[in-house]
Amino acid sequence: MKDKYNMVKKIKHKKKQTKKVSISSEKVETNISNFDKLIGGGFEKNSSNIIAGGAGSGKSIFATQFLVEGIKKGEKGLYVTFEEKKESFYKNMKNFGWDLKNYEDKKLFTFLEYTPVKVKTMLDEGGGTIESTIVRQGVARIVIDSITSFVLLFDKEIEKREAALALFNMIGGWNCTSLLTLEEDFSETKELTSKTMEFESDSIILMYFPSEKGERNRYLEILKMRGVKHSKKVHKFEIRKNGIYIHLKSSRRFGKK
Ligand SMILES: Nc1ncnc2c1ncn2[C@@H]1O[C@H](COP(=O)(O)OP(=O)(O)OP(=O)(O)O)[C@@H](O)[C@H]1O
Ligand SMILES: [Mg+2]
Repeated sequence: MKDKYNMVKKIKHKKKQTKKVSISSEKVETNISNFDKLIGGGFEKNSSNIIAGGAGSGKSIFATQFLVEGIKKGEKGLYVTFEEKKESFYKNMKNFGWDLKNYEDKKLFTFLEYTPVKVKTMLDEGGGTIESTIVRQGVARIVIDSITSFVLLFDKEIEKREAALALFNMIGGWNCTSLLTLEEDFSETKELTSKTMEFESDSIILMYFPSEKGERNRYLEILKMRGVKHSKKVHKFEIRKNGIYIHLKSSRRFGKK
């Protein structure tokens, strides 16, 4: 009798779980502490998102955590980089307990060193290593770190705009949720200089690392997220031993000396 009761309980529980999954199926949870609460549950599935900030603001750590959290749920990750060197990158990320080598061995994670010129060729010719890796491995989350040097390949604003459009169109066809990093320093303004990127992406997250009263603090805000009632606050965050932790409370204006 008790067994039967437990069985019914189990089935009910299973039903509940299934329901929960289907509700959130359009969202891709980042599982970065508190971040999903700022954006209505996660990134939209298959969306293209930008994380922009100055040097050392935390973009690569954020982007890697986004991939690692996906891998933990069985979603394969691809990290395309123009700047990071594999060995030191793996070593740095291991400090957070993220064993990328192990994930790579299990074919859950791919590290791809790329050049901006190769991306340009890929846009002109279609396909390329990134696309074949995505198809072969069944990648669900992709990070391109960073697109800054790619943008720099183009001089004229119109060319930049066209290239950005082509890039986002291509990414849009990959059936992956993407996070692209962009190096921008917002110490003076809160405007992106790459306006093109701003228009083409589904969301933009800004990261700041200003000096305040003799020390630097980290902040993050959502500049835009299409179709989402996101937080409008500036949130302080920390880089902790297991990754990024975002404070939910709104921060006072930052950047005061
Ligand atoms: N294990 C760690 N624990 C705490 N903070 C760390 C740790 N490793 C790195 N950091 C901090 O994170 C910063 C680097 O973060 P990250 O590489 O994500 O920045 P970034 O925005 O990608 O920079 P860049 O534009 O140079 O690529 C370091 O400068 C340091 O302040
Ligand atoms: Mg970086």
